Formats: sequence, C-alpha cells, structure tokens
Amino acid sequence: MLLLTGATGLVGSALLRRLTAARIPVRCLVRDPRRLGAERVRVQIALGDLADPPSFRNALRGVTTVVHLAAAIRDQPRGSIEELNGIATWRMVQAAERAGVQRFVFFSALSASAHDRTRFLRAKALAEQAVTASDLEHVVVAPSIVYAPGDAFMTLLGRLALLPAVPVSGRGRATYQPIWAQDVAECVMALLAQDGASTQARYELVGPETLTYTEITERLLRAAGRPRPLVHVPTAIVSRVLRATEAILKSKAPATWDEAELMEVSMVTAAGTADARRLGVDPQRMDAVLRRAATRTG
Ligand SMILES: NC(=O)c1ccc[n+]([C@@H]2O[C@H](COP(=O)([O-])OP(=O)(O)OC[C@H]3O[C@@H](n4cnc5c(N)ncnc54)[C@H](OP(=O)(O)O)[C@@H]3O)[C@@H](O)[C@H]2O)c1
Repeated sequence: MLLLTGATGLVGSALLRRLTAARIPVRCLVRDPRRLGAERVRVQIALGDLADPPSFRNALRGVTTVVHLAAAIRDQPRGSIEELNGIATWRMVQAAERAGVQRFVFFSALSASAHDRTRFLRAKALAEQAVTASDLEHVVVAPSIVYAPGDAFMTLLGRLALLPAVPVSGRGRATYQPIWAQDVAECVMALLAQDGASTQARYELVGPETLTYTEITERLLRAAGRPRPLVHVPTAIVSRVLRATEAILKSKAPATWDEAELMEVSMVTAAGTADARRLGVDPQRMDAVLRRAATRTG
C-alpha cells in the first residue's frame, strides 16, 4: 500500500491518476475526499490533516511507501507554515518509522535553506533534515516552480488581467526553471519503479528553460490571450497591502505576503534537466504545454 498526501494538489492529482491507472494500491490522506473527484472511488481514504499528526498513524497502517506532497505556502487556521511543513513532516517521518514503512519520498523545493528569507523555504529545509536523518529509505525531490494550465497562479493572473496593467511584486528578476506538473508526476512514477539501490537520494526536477518571474508572468498572460503591461510594485508596498488584506480576509485572502515573497527567491539548478532525464523524462517547454492546453479549450 502506498500512502499519498497532497493527492488533490497540482502534482498529487497528476500522480494519483498514474498510480490508479497502474493499479498500484493507494491510500490518500485528505482533508476533504470530495476534492479527489472521480479518483476517490479508486483509492482508500484516510481523513487527516497536517495540523493533526495523530491522524497520520491510522493513515500509515500497512503502508510500505509514502509519497509526502502535502504542503502549505500560507498559514492555515489550524497551523502555521512552520507547523504544516516543518513539524508535520518530522511527525510523519516518526510515524512512518513506527509503522514499519520502507520508503519515504518527500517533496521539498529547490532553494530550501535554513537561512532563507522566506518562512516556507526555511520550513522545507527543516523538513528535509528530518527526512534525511531518518532510518527510512528516503528520496528528496526538489522541484523548481511547478505549473499546470489553469492552476491557482494562472487563475489569479487571469483575474489581475482584467486590470489595464498587471501588478508584479518587486522587480520580478528571480529566476526559475518551470516544470509541468505532468512531467513531475512521470518522474515520480519512474523513481517508484526503481529499487532502492538504484535510486538517488535527491532529485532536482526542473524544466528546460530558465525564466525570470517577469518573463513567466508575460508568457502566461500571452497564453491566456490577455497580454498586458506589467507594473512593478516595490516589495515594501506589496508586503504592507497583502498583510492588511490577510488581516481582514484571513484565509480568504486572494494572495498573501508569504506567497508573494517566494517570488523573490530564485529556484534554479546548474544541472538543468539532468535528474529528470535520468528518470527517462524529457520535460517540456512551457510554451508547448500552454499552446496545447489553449487548443483544447479554444
Ligand atoms: N507548485 C510549486 O511551484 C512547487 C515548487 C516547489 C516545491 N513544491 C512542492 O511540491 C509538492 C507538491 O506541490 P503542489 O504544487 O502539487 O501543491 P498544491 O497544489 O499547493 O497542493 C497542496 C496539497 O497539500 C494539501 N494540503 C494543504 N494543507 C493541508 C493540510 N493542512 N492537511 C492535509 N493536506 C493539506 C492540499 O489539500 P487540500 O485539497 O485539502 O487543500 C493539496 O492536496 C509540495 O510539497 C510543494 O511544497 C511545489
């Protein structure tokens, strides 16, 4: 039995479809099973929450492999970024060791560092440490920015594109190597198919192009058929506005400062797509993915 957390997310939904198609028995730790859509009838469901570590024990019964994708880039009513990403992963690893799990695949992020300016990347670094210090056979997957046509960021941009000019937080010069969620899912399937001995301890998964945040935004707006001029707003102003919005709208805020600040941190690797290709996956260019999606919906 494989335990998948974060099955309703960008990577998780792409991965879950592949796992069930391959008839791999899957249990999903979810807050709300309805968000699994049609897949919910093909999997076992363990109700749980990153903010509720006792729920991990039940979810891990009889499990041999864990793929831990669930994560949060903003505080939630039941837990902070640090609790949901850092402490929850540490507790998940402990529970997995107690449950006799053999293999633990953990999704971190490129640039995770205990000294990073962002709370999220600091919490991911601590989570990575908990995973690599464990006795479990483990794999850390560190992607650059992951996207899929119609994802939350594109939806937000679509709304901003109703304005005559689209605001961009800061100078937008941080660089990324965006990778399509379907390519990431293919990579995970390939590493799950390997035996432990031939699996690397860490895979850095990126797409074939290096783009600034500004270039990514321009590309997405063009693909949505709404090219707009960009207005770079100083981060001091963005931070004040978003913190005030979050104080009023709480979890309903359309964007938070913690999320915007992540767009100030580059997520690139000099090795490029080498790790993905070693797994037999040749990640696609963003334009090609967006063009295909536009043809399907257009
Ligand atoms: N997307 C990126 O650009 C990117 C970049 C680097 C690293 N990563 C990492 O890659 C992994 C997958 O990312 P993704 O983009 O697929 O994530 P995502 O789309 O944001 O999905 C997050 C998942 O975590 C679940 N989740 C959130 N809070 C939870 C909680 N309190 N309890 C249980 N589940 C909870 C969500 O479930 P609900 O349906 O209940 O909300 C959802 O399934 C994550 O670990 C992420 O940090 C992503």
